[in-house]
Amino acid sequence: MSKTAIVEIDGKRYEFPVVEGSENEEAIDINKLRDLTGVITLDPGYKNSGSCTSKITFLDGELGILRYRGYSIEDLADKADFLEVSFLLIFGELPTAVQLKQFEDDIRKHTLVNEEMKNIIDGFPRTAHPMGVLAALTSALTAFNPKSVNVDNEKEMYHAVCKTMGKFLVIATWTYRKSMGYPLNYYDNTKGYVENFMKLMFEIPTGPYKASPIVIDALNKLFILHADHEQNCSTSTVRMVGSSHAGLFASISAGVSALWGPLHGGANQAVLEMLEEIHNNGGDTDKYMAKAKDKNDPFRLMGFGHRVYKNFDPRAKIIKKAADEVLETLGVDDPILAIAKKLEALALEDEYFKSRSLYPNVDFYSGIIYRALGIPTDMFTVMFAIGRLPGWIAQWKEMRENKEPIGRPRQIYTGSPLRDFKTVDKR
Ligand code: SDX
Repeated sequence: MSKTAIVEIDGKRYEFPVVEGSENEEAIDINKLRDLTGVITLDPGYKNSGSCTSKITFLDGELGILRYRGYSIEDLADKADFLEVSFLLIFGELPTAVQLKQFEDDIRKHTLVNEEMKNIIDGFPRTAHPMGVLAALTSALTAFNPKSVNVDNEKEMYHAVCKTMGKFLVIATWTYRKSMGYPLNYYDNTKGYVENFMKLMFEIPTGPYKASPIVIDALNKLFILHADHEQNCSTSTVRMVGSSHAGLFASISAGVSALWGPLHGGANQAVLEMLEEIHNNGGDTDKYMAKAKDKNDPFRLMGFGHRVYKNFDPRAKIIKKAADEVLETLGVDDPILAIAKKLEALALEDEYFKSRSLYPNVDFYSGIIYRALGIPTDMFTVMFAIGRLPGWIAQWKEMRENKEPIGRPRQIYTGSPLRDFKTVDKR
């Protein structure tokens, strides 16, 4: 006997089915609510509302669990590589060795970006924020790849996936090259995907660039940890834009813009800027803890708190361990890491943070590793976007394959009642 929920309005009772997921999550299916009752629900920020069912990622905010297609984030970060996890998220299964090689080869077929795209990037000032340039270039890819993506045709969908994975990585690094006044690099089909990121970013014409295996391994782990996170702000944006049947590049471009915000992916840059400010002001962590708790002070402890994790973000634990290992292996003694750990220790003991279940999130430690790898601070959110790309693609593909309706939330109007128009001479 499946569960139901009863809603009583003006003495009338209405019954709605309760949907149960494969991990025993439950939701009241209100598909017929307005037709039956004439009322809607109101939930700013969708804290209590599910937008879809999905088979891609499961997270439990209370227990600090994160799984991609049923595999734990701990296992994937430890044992898989980024393209393997990208394939898993997008196509639902871990690839065989043959499938993985084919996927990497097929991505390589699309890593050449139309040379005319350089005219677009030339139009930006060097001071432009890389996320703004990336959003524009991603949208511009539509102009050079106008064919809409037919998700019902498996071959075309696979082609669009490989094209997006290939071109996005290249244009993401072009945002850095542009800011530095360096020539734009090309993907090297003899190197791996993550190794190519470092080559695209840092190789200069005077000679070949060789990334250390430690750096490649750390980046691989970081990209995996950022790859998907169910219906977060930027992913919901990608699904919303895609629900109007806008193309994949246009939908991803919207996701880049949403991720840029400092409350979302932009937090990793904001964390580093906060830690540097604390360091430059003498490392007074108590002062900043007090600011974070002061209702009259807009300052928040960036990298802390989460919409759904009310326990440790499991990604933060893995990144914190990796930060220790990477900095030690690279022989980097970064005082910023010590400040981060001190802030974490203070917050975990502090009543304000404990009572609000505010723990370090994915952004709290990631910037410390990026900095040690030589990635500039204003590129940190671009790093998040590169990692999140397969998740965006997977979610967009699922939404379209499920033939979900165009997203169109309702509202409760609280504005002025009907008024008579007055001509300007009478106002
Ligand atoms: C990401 O959703 C995802 O999955 C996102 C993400 C992903 O992988 O896609 O995980 C990536 O975006 C991680 C979050 C990165 N953002 C930050 O680190 C920015 C700092 N964090 C906050 O802005 C905040 O915690 C949010 C935005 C992350 C979550 O905000 P909520 O859930 O809307 O919580 P809230 O604003 O309602 O805060 C509840 C209380 C408030 O105090 P009271 O009104 O109850 O007195 O906690 C306080 C807030 O003032 N609070 C903080 C705080 N975060 C919340 N106080 C100080 N410092 C903070 N960081």
